[in-house]
Amino acid sequence: MKKILLTLSFSALVLSAPLYAAGDAAAGKAISATCVACHGMDGNSAAPNFPKIAGQHEGYLYKQLMDFKTGKRVDPTMVGMVAALSKKDMRDLAAYYAGQTGSKGTTAEDQLALGQMIYRSGNATTGVSACAACHSPTGAGNPQANFPQLSGQHATYTASQLQQFAKGTRANDAGSMMRVIARKMSDAEMKAVSEYIQGLQ
Ligand code: HEC
Ligand code: HEC
Repeated sequence: MKKILLTLSFSALVLSAPLYAAGDAAAGKAISATCVACHGMDGNSAAPNFPKIAGQHEGYLYKQLMDFKTGKRVDPTMVGMVAALSKKDMRDLAAYYAGQTGSKGTTAEDQLALGQMIYRSGNATTGVSACAACHSPTGAGNPQANFPQLSGQHATYTASQLQQFAKGTRANDAGSMMRVIARKMSDAEMKAVSEYIQGLQ
């Protein structure tokens, strides 16, 4: 019995410990000049195919940069961007962008009803899980679980990620969590929920 209790409290400790060593935001800012062209001055990109990275969780940002570097997440543009970066550089960049404020967006009126339904309730008929369960009702995500913030993200980028998860060309989601869901979604559902997320705040 004592042994079980010890094991349990040990797991609790491990779970509550940060998954990464916190970076130095000032050092990250100093090396962020190469990112500006696509992700904007403060991580709020103007072009809808380039993701906003401002205000995203530090641990998630670091994981993505590492995944691009190790080839777990494949993107021809980003692989070149991380090639020369050290782990410390990536930690520092993650700290810098996590400290910026993400800009808000809007939802196209004709996509609101379906988008909101998928986000909040999923689709019971086809087995699509409610996004809110992991990404939170406000789209803030859950940094401890490495569920990214989604709110305010460009709909074009979000829809492209859902398509990639469905096809399996993006496969860096732990336990296939996103691939399992995206495969069950229709194109119309992906489009609507992406529009809904763009306006979430
Ligand atoms: C030439 C354009 C370009 C430049 C410059 C660039 N990126 Fe990116 N970045 C992209 C694109 C495109 C994606 C989306 C890739 C995809 O579709 O999977 C991306 C994705 C990312 C992501 C993943 C975001 C998410 O929500 O999962 C992070 C983090 C990121 N970039 C950080 C950086 C950093 C840090 C730099 C500078 C060192 C940088 N990028 C420079 C184009 C660029
Ligand atoms: C069981 C938990 C879970 C549920 C439910 C869930 N997600 Fe996710 N989602 C994740 C995880 C984990 C990741 C991060 C994958 C990684 O580490 O790269 C993620 C990543 C994403 C990303 C990529 C974000 C980025 O910045 O690149 C998008 C977009 C996304 N989810 C949309 C959705 C939508 C839309 C729904 C509802 C239809 C949904 N998710 C439901 C766990 C979940």
